[in-house]
Amino acid sequence: MCGIIGIAGRADITAPLMEGLARLEYRGYDSAGLAVVGSEDAEPKRRRCVGQVKALAQNLRTQGLSGEVGIAHTRWATHGTPSEENAHPLVSGTIALVHNGIIENFRPLRSELEAAGYRFESNTDSEVIVHLIHHQLVATEDLAEAVRAVVKRLQGQFALAVISSSDPDCIVAVRSGSPLVLGCGDGQNSVASDASALAGLARQAVFLEEGDLATIAADRIAIEDRNAAPVTRSPVPLKSGQEVRLGQYEYHLQREIFAHPDSIRAVLADRLQGDRVSAFDDFAGLLDRVEGISIAACGSSYLAAEVARHWFEELAGLPCQAEIASEYRYRAQVIQPNTLFLTLSQSGETADTLAAFKKAQGQGYLTTLSMCNAPLSSLPRLSDIEFMLNAGPEISVASTKVVSASLVALLLLAMTLARRNGLTSSREAELVGALRALPEQVQQVLQRDADFEQQAVAIASQNHALFIGRRAFYPIALEGALKLKELSYIHAEGHAAGELKHGPLALVDENMPVIALAPADDLISKLESNLQEIKARGGRLYVITDQSLASRLQAELECAVIPLPDTHAVTAPILYLVSVQLLACHVGLHRNTNLDQPRNLAKSVTVE
Ligand code: G6P
Repeated sequence: MCGIIGIAGRADITAPLMEGLARLEYRGYDSAGLAVVGSEDAEPKRRRCVGQVKALAQNLRTQGLSGEVGIAHTRWATHGTPSEENAHPLVSGTIALVHNGIIENFRPLRSELEAAGYRFESNTDSEVIVHLIHHQLVATEDLAEAVRAVVKRLQGQFALAVISSSDPDCIVAVRSGSPLVLGCGDGQNSVASDASALAGLARQAVFLEEGDLATIAADRIAIEDRNAAPVTRSPVPLKSGQEVRLGQYEYHLQREIFAHPDSIRAVLADRLQGDRVSAFDDFAGLLDRVEGISIAACGSSYLAAEVARHWFEELAGLPCQAEIASEYRYRAQVIQPNTLFLTLSQSGETADTLAAFKKAQGQGYLTTLSMCNAPLSSLPRLSDIEFMLNAGPEISVASTKVVSASLVALLLLAMTLARRNGLTSSREAELVGALRALPEQVQQVLQRDADFEQQAVAIASQNHALFIGRRAFYPIALEGALKLKELSYIHAEGHAAGELKHGPLALVDENMPVIALAPADDLISKLESNLQEIKARGGRLYVITDQSLASRLQAELECAVIPLPDTHAVTAPILYLVSVQLLACHVGLHRNTNLDQPRNLAKSVTVE
């Protein structure tokens, strides 16, 4: 998704701007650009290009550029195709601007500006802002004042960073619905759409609040709130970024899938004490009052929430509703007393999840809890209780290792809440033992890499696939289908196995791979009937199952079987999660897709 970095310094800032852009690449983008001003410049100097930041770097190497103050952007197209004209920064005379978010009323504003004689060079919604600021500067010479006046006319959500060659010492930045963070450094200050882009640039970060406008110069930062009153926002220390190396892998996605055991260890560290879960001890009194759970999340985080719904209901005996955040925000809720509102988000910045959170605030929930992997991101900062997943940076657009960390975190919460509903200490000790065994069992799944690769070859030659599972394995089937779509562009669907006969079975023939998740649980005989129905119609079965069942299922169904280590029934969905991600990864490798940046997708989805 779009990323912003801006630096106000005293020497040439082009190189650090490019490093900042490289740190934003993980968000997913289709074009990049930067604009700088120096004290001698009549207009901002700008370079833009479609594609990778390295193409922009190459452009800069051949046709140098320098300036002391500058802004840069990675763009993920919303309005207008990925093209150089639509890439940011957008320029109007002396003004250059980068924008994250969406301007909903851009059409009438564009007509008004065209009538006033402005010529548009892009199809973006963003270009109206830069022309409006240019126009406003006829009425005032003060850049911050002009930006403040223009912001009042914009509808939608946005983060802006603006420079002007008439005022070449500073950047003016505004947060309204899309996050922005300031970096305080030595003789240089900066602004970015997320704190990770500030690594190496600043020692402290200052998070802007909604409606804040900041003026950032090399030696000073001034912030005004939404009413134009000067405010101070407390700085927080910025940890130096963890460098992520690909090592033996071609893609971050592979490295991250093979990091599942480490991410499970990391989320468990300091959260268990002997045979009991201690992760939520500080909130014991509050959590004792919980009578229900409502979870809002997107993408794979939402699917993790759907798995956890089974744990909250089965282990803790508490009603749980997991909901896609973009649906939650526009739906009327009936909130039962003492309901815990939980958001789950790798990035902590997903726009729909943030909007669902904001809607939930003040609606009578008992408390808000966020589980998140990105330190200093918006959701944990806003929530009453924050639970960091600690899985380390996740670079690939498709979430993998953080999903297993999320599942473990949710299970820790379910176990904590279950105590009140009769979870005995011996049962808790049994589940803690299952959690402690998990990293090693996941490692064993990963050691079967060659089995997954072998089955992936056949699936890679097809254009469609179905994933099926029951109960907590149904959302894992959905995750398998989601990952296969993202990583291989094969059309895939996930279904509850019992629903096949109500429609999806019509799709099954000899060209339809069906990947079945078949744990050795009390529903296995029901699932086997579903598998026989598929076999009878010529479907190509790929059965992922527990070791103890593998040979029997292979003999009876005469199909491809991938065995997973036998594990505890409660933690089994986590092993199956890893297996479907690994399978999808191999299919993607065979189809030669870009596993880290699937087409059209972004990581930190900061627009609605
Ligand atoms: C994007 C990513 C997905 C991720 C989803 C939710 O769509 O591509 O992999 O699951 O956002 O992200 P979050 O950061 O809120 O977990």
